[in-house]
Amino acid sequence: MPSIIIVGTQWGDEGKGKVVDFLTESTDIVVRAQGGSNAGHTVYSDGQKYVLHLMPSGILWPDKRCVIGNGVVIDPIGFLGEVDGLLDKGIQVTPDNLRISHAAHVVFPYHRAMDLALEARRGDAQLGTTGRGIGPAYSDKIDRCGLRMNDLANTERLATKVRTRLAMFNGASEGIEAPDLDAILKDYSAAGERLAPFLTNTVTYLNGAMRAGKSLLFEGAQGAYLDIDHGTYPFVTSSNTTAGGACTGSGVAPNQIDQVIGVCKAYTTRVGAGPCVTEEGDFSDRLHAMGREFGATTGRKRRCGWIDVVMLRFAKMVNGFNSFAMTNLDGLDGLDEVRLCTAYELDGERMETPPLDAEDLERCKPIYETMEGWPDDISGAQSLDDLPTKARRYLDRITELVETPFSIVSVGPDRKQTIVAPDVLAAGK
Ligand code: GDP
Ligand code: IMO
Ligand code: MG
Repeated sequence: MPSIIIVGTQWGDEGKGKVVDFLTESTDIVVRAQGGSNAGHTVYSDGQKYVLHLMPSGILWPDKRCVIGNGVVIDPIGFLGEVDGLLDKGIQVTPDNLRISHAAHVVFPYHRAMDLALEARRGDAQLGTTGRGIGPAYSDKIDRCGLRMNDLANTERLATKVRTRLAMFNGASEGIEAPDLDAILKDYSAAGERLAPFLTNTVTYLNGAMRAGKSLLFEGAQGAYLDIDHGTYPFVTSSNTTAGGACTGSGVAPNQIDQVIGVCKAYTTRVGAGPCVTEEGDFSDRLHAMGREFGATTGRKRRCGWIDVVMLRFAKMVNGFNSFAMTNLDGLDGLDEVRLCTAYELDGERMETPPLDAEDLERCKPIYETMEGWPDDISGAQSLDDLPTKARRYLDRITELVETPFSIVSVGPDRKQTIVAPDVLAAGK
């Protein structure tokens, strides 16, 4: 299989974990390159549910290799909890099937405390972060006062660097209880010792593997509109969630990538604050009543709405999707009609792509195209031909509007509930 970047096309939770798990069978190495434990990727494997936060979904396949790249921020204590949970379920996690970049940055308890304190200080303007310390950890990286995974292995170096960092506590850390240096050193040097065998120069590892003919599958976290540059700033996360982030976050050059697949839910969801033009209360209530759309990391109800083609159009520009993998098409079963937002109206003007400013986006009105829905339960469909004509028309219309074909259509959470268009997947490059 070629090397593929998988990214979310909306506000995260598109079903990237499920798509990555499905494609892992035909790849060699699964790579996470950005984000941290703010991600929650749900995968069903042999009837067992797994929610992965930092661990690449490929770990569920025993003969595959996984890499956590330099662009990821790692909470080593939380991560070891995730590892233990997997070991308990009989999943093997060894230095042979998992490699962690020595250059990935470390999330400390003071990052989590700062995340929560900053949110509290924002009052009504809260972003609704996951509270995992992601923003402050990436801030330290950019401020050049962060610690990297290889700093954990050496207790003396760890102590010096944490002490230096804590001495810099200033206005940004106001109101936060002084971190307990001894507790941090104890917990983090123990975690560092346990994780030391996994640390690798993942850049040379990945590039060497590619030279030996291995294929890579990049598992994006979050989605295009949570991207720090291209998302609905400031209601975004703190990393580049778009395709370019896979290269900077792994040290794999752009010309080594064969294709980019955008994972797209059949409708829109967003968790946390910020604009969402197609959000609709009734539509959200319907999905929640079906037991769907509760956050995998925080359990919060996701805000839901119709599919937003305007957003998909811009996401295609930034990411260069060769194809879409649509998930949750079954979530639209039983509706008399389905709607697609094909343009926005802002101050009397029609817009085909979203405005740059989040406040303008908040004021946009959706312009909908309505199509007939399908009464059928599609969760057993095994091929595109099994889908009702009206569901196929919905897919065709999206392809027409965004000029992007579908390589995968998912009709249920299970690995088996996945339809592939092999010609589209093969034609990817
Ligand atoms: P991710 O963060 O992009 O990996 O997505 P999440 O795991 O946070 O959320 C996606 C949710 O949709 C999970 O509960 C998946 O099990 C579920 N899911 C994925 N694809 C499908 C599908 O085609 N149909 C249904 N019913 N559920 C799906
Ligand atoms: P996956 O990989 C959905 C959202 C948060 C908040 C904003 C900033 O499962 O798709 P952060 O904690 O990153 O500083 O929060 O980003 N967010 C996600 N929403 N899925 C995710 O990841 C998310 N990761 C962060 O809700 O609005
Ligand atoms: Mg998720």
